[in-house]
Amino acid sequence: MSIPSNFAIKDPLHQTTYLKNGELVAWKGKTDEVYSTISSTKEYKPTLLGTVPHMDKEAALDVLQSACDAYARGQGQWPTMKEAERIKCMENFVAQMKTKREEVVKYLMWEIGKNLPDSQKEFDRTVEYIEDTIEDYKQLDRDSSKFSKRDGVNAHIRRGPLGVVLCLGPYNYPLNETFALLIPAIIMGNTVVFKPAKHGVLLLSPLLEAFRSSFPKGVVNVIYGRGREVAAPIMATGKIDVLALIGNSTSAIALQDQHPYKNRLRLVLGLEAKNPAIILPDADLDLAIEECISGTLSFNGQRCTALKIVYVHEDIREEFNKRYAKKVDSLKFGNPWEEGVKLTPLPEPGKPQYIKELIDDALEKGARIINEKGGEISDNYIYPAVLYPVTKEMRVYKEEQFGPVVPVKPFKDIQEILDEMADSNYGQQVSLFGKDIQEIAPLIDTLVNLVCRVNLNSSCQRGPDVFPFTGRKDSAVGTLSVHDALRSFSIRTFVASKDNPYNNEILQKLLNSKTSNFVSTDYIL
Ligand code: G3H
Repeated sequence: MSIPSNFAIKDPLHQTTYLKNGELVAWKGKTDEVYSTISSTKEYKPTLLGTVPHMDKEAALDVLQSACDAYARGQGQWPTMKEAERIKCMENFVAQMKTKREEVVKYLMWEIGKNLPDSQKEFDRTVEYIEDTIEDYKQLDRDSSKFSKRDGVNAHIRRGPLGVVLCLGPYNYPLNETFALLIPAIIMGNTVVFKPAKHGVLLLSPLLEAFRSSFPKGVVNVIYGRGREVAAPIMATGKIDVLALIGNSTSAIALQDQHPYKNRLRLVLGLEAKNPAIILPDADLDLAIEECISGTLSFNGQRCTALKIVYVHEDIREEFNKRYAKKVDSLKFGNPWEEGVKLTPLPEPGKPQYIKELIDDALEKGARIINEKGGEISDNYIYPAVLYPVTKEMRVYKEEQFGPVVPVKPFKDIQEILDEMADSNYGQQVSLFGKDIQEIAPLIDTLVNLVCRVNLNSSCQRGPDVFPFTGRKDSAVGTLSVHDALRSFSIRTFVASKDNPYNNEILQKLLNSKTSNFVSTDYIL
């Protein structure tokens, strides 16, 4: 097995500190080993990548206190700071972050098995997200640097922070999705306790110093450990104002349940999805197959936006199945740094077995594997099986597989699918393939009420990150995009005064003296 020297793991990375109150504090307690399911030797053996602190309740609560102190119930330096100064901190952070690209990309490949181009894209897209967020924040500030007058009342309205945010990201986008929560939360003046996901944790180590040195103490805090042992006790204190989580509704609900004052808790959640592809009889099959390949199987289907069920019209199912299955078998499996690999090792050791269970269940209930390599299992992978015909009774129909298996279900009448989607607990996106506008138009009008993005003749995706990313039912709470996230992590708050000479003179003095960070009509250019 040859691993390019620039990607080889020479020494394990021992993350011996956590970030609290502006300091990288040494952790003396238990640690957890971090393994990659990628082998470094010919004989299969998971690779030890390093260790991270296994923090406990006491340590977690101590870290929470530093976030609370920095927020100081709205009176801290960070929540009351001028926008321009917060921007400077963020710019400093992103400048430092850019210097860590290679290290972060290397750990993305080892920890979660994402291929090299996609790992690089994740890094670059995140940098772009931060830069776009800064620009949008400046615009928000410009738009707010004015007074409104109505019914004899002058109002100066801005968006203010919400408080202390607990931020938990997912393993499939441990950098991008996590930062899509973290960055807007911070820039809006909140303080944050952030716990990386179980997989995709060491890749954050190269960025800890940038977090430490770019922001005032206590604004960003990083903890490690099990959700149950550290995140749950933090929630139970009632000191968290925003739960920002990308993951699944079971963990989101379990954490919310810990919070004693639920009405005070704002939720920003990206949750499960089972986005369908619908292939209408007049669809351009070349295009539909190409989009379904990337939609179902890029990053092995481990994307919340992945196409997780394919509905194909009876008239074209034979042709579609034959060509799609052949294309699936042509996808190259290998380690993330290998040229042209599309399928890569699964980061969760139990995943191949779980996918096998879904396949076995479907086979028992009458489906077939229609591609030759489907279901071939190895130490860290299971080759994508295309299952046909899938029925409602099968587990793979109901469960979000989040891995390499593709259920294909035939349909005759489009109404069946609309009803299935309406019945489903998911509501993120759909891909619709076809061109007859008489057919498509009424479908679009219904589908937009069942999900939050209808992708016409293209696979589902989150990006471009300036577009709203959200979902209905169990798929999301709140909206994320560069623009919307700034709103999700803030609240409108304002200064109002009756329009009379006495008040107006005070306001004028406030503006002229530039003594208030809030009451200010200065523009950030
Ligand atoms: O895991 C869900 C991600 O938000 C998907 O993002 O569509 O850019 O892969 P993506």
